[in-house]
Amino acid sequence: MKYIVTGGAGFIGGNYMHFAVNTYPEDQWICLDKLTYAGNLETLKPLEGKPNYHFVRGDIADREFIFSLFEKEKPDFVINFAAESHVDRSVTDPDIFVRTNVMGTVTLLDACRSFGIRRYHQVSTDEVYGDLPLDRPDLFFTEENQIKASSPYSASKASADLFVMAYHRTFGIPVTISRCSNNYGPYHFPEKLIPLVISRALKEEKIPVYGNGANVRDWLYVTDHCRAIDRIVREGRSGEVYNIGGHNERSNLEVVKTILHALGKPESLIEYVKDRPGHDQRYAMDPAKIERELHWEPEYSFDTGIPVTIDWYLKNREWWEHIISGEYQKYFEEQYKI
Ligand code: NAD
Ligand code: TYD
Repeated sequence: MKYIVTGGAGFIGGNYMHFAVNTYPEDQWICLDKLTYAGNLETLKPLEGKPNYHFVRGDIADREFIFSLFEKEKPDFVINFAAESHVDRSVTDPDIFVRTNVMGTVTLLDACRSFGIRRYHQVSTDEVYGDLPLDRPDLFFTEENQIKASSPYSASKASADLFVMAYHRTFGIPVTISRCSNNYGPYHFPEKLIPLVISRALKEEKIPVYGNGANVRDWLYVTDHCRAIDRIVREGRSGEVYNIGGHNERSNLEVVKTILHALGKPESLIEYVKDRPGHDQRYAMDPAKIERELHWEPEYSFDTGIPVTIDWYLKNREWWEHIISGEYQKYFEEQYKI
């Protein structure tokens, strides 16, 4: 079988490429990535030279390119990780989120429609459900929840999900959608909370916490997400949405303090900064459907995943130090003004 994995030079797509190429040597794995600021070929270095893997640089929203790639490769499966993924960037520049996340998804779906596909899988997010109040810990997102996006990022992901379902219903394309909670682990770009805290704490730099740090996220170790997607693509029912999460809710302040303690760094590094506009309060997934139907369960809890993650950042300093330079640094200064 031949797979096109889009966004495979990013954080989750990169972890997925490592998992898939090594787990399924009999399948062909094509990584398609535009290599935006978030794409990093160093992440894919360990796969170079493997006979069942190759990399193609390209834009999922470039119709001519996508159609010629599908014509040449005739993939059996498409797994779409490619996206603009950072909420803060979507606040300053929503346009690119519409182009990549919405138009890119529609372009891939059109190519699947023209050339045929066994399964198109859309990697979506819990953020399409909006947020939950902090004072209702009994509430969780199920697949039946209303789509109710808060940020330009989540609006673009929700819109893409609607197109995926519309193409299934109207054109009969076999599709699945997974909606996962926040991921963490190796190869996570250091603009996101957990790698940002680890990398800045190691350099004894201030840790910016938005607002009062009470916002809650539901954290999943990235390889658990990869295994869940694999299960859905192979065994999930076409036309279905699957929530993915492991009931690991933590407030941002708890996350930051856990990492600081693990690294032996003082809490005085914490600096409360201006809150994110429209900041979602709490995400919390109910993964009962994927547990029940596909017998998936996470291998890591937050308490076991965090030390493994910290260890990876300590051993792979070069990977993230290469990133924290140039454009990223300029962006960082503008974003935080600290
Ligand atoms: P990321 O930003 O680390 O990686 C995105 C990748 O997509 C990069 O390699 C980038 O170069 C590539 N890309 C961007 N625009 C492209 C385009 N037009 N054409 C081709 N490639 C393009 O993102 P991530 O955190 O790995 O997220 C991957 C997917 O998972 C996204 O769809 C995101 O919405 C979803 N998701 C992420 C999380 C999370 O916690 N990070 C949680 C749930 C869902
Ligand atoms: P992030 O990693 O950007 O993921 P998302 O917004 O998609 O959940 O942020 C996780 C949480 O951490 C979110 O509530 C915003 C907060 N946050 C900070 O407090 N400081 C930071 O520097 C960043 C990047 C995020």
